[in-house]
Amino acid sequence: MDTEVTLRVDGTTYTLGVDTRTTLLDAMRERLGITSPKKGCDHGQCGACTILLDGWRANSCLALAVAHDGAEIVTAAGLAMDGNLHPMQQAFIEHDAFQCGYCTPGQIVSAVGMLDEVDAGWPSAVTAAGDAEVVLDEAEIRERMSGNLCRCAAYANIVPAIAQVAR
Ligand code: FES
Repeated sequence: MDTEVTLRVDGTTYTLGVDTRTTLLDAMRERLGITSPKKGCDHGQCGACTILLDGWRANSCLALAVAHDGAEIVTAAGLAMDGNLHPMQQAFIEHDAFQCGYCTPGQIVSAVGMLDEVDAGWPSAVTAAGDAEVVLDEAEIRERMSGNLCRCAAYANIVPAIAQVAR
């Protein structure tokens, strides 16, 4: 029997019945026609499905829809407001930070979420020593973005794009 859930995705509210095994990724892609989050591994390993879930980045392939009734979700498509690209989207264009583009929505959402985590005071991911001040150098960005894989290996351009917005 389906369970009714309400999800707010990129500013639009949807109510739908889902099987208890339905992930947020499948609910969005297969039920709501929201294809910005991509399905890569479906195992929480590639990051292509990354969304902001109630403000924090999450792999939507690992999140069950029934566990997130009432959630506020932002996808890469929802980052563009009023016809204007988000600064992270603009930076990815300026740095040519993609090749095939399949991972790009997840990379961009993850980068935005990662900067929010830094603003919230999450300690350094590189030192793992709980440094009070996080220096978002290349190593720190790479570590914090390590959950987002790019099969084209466009990292040499992705990292500078993120660094530009971080400044
Ligand atoms: Fe979710 Fe790969 S599809 S992490």
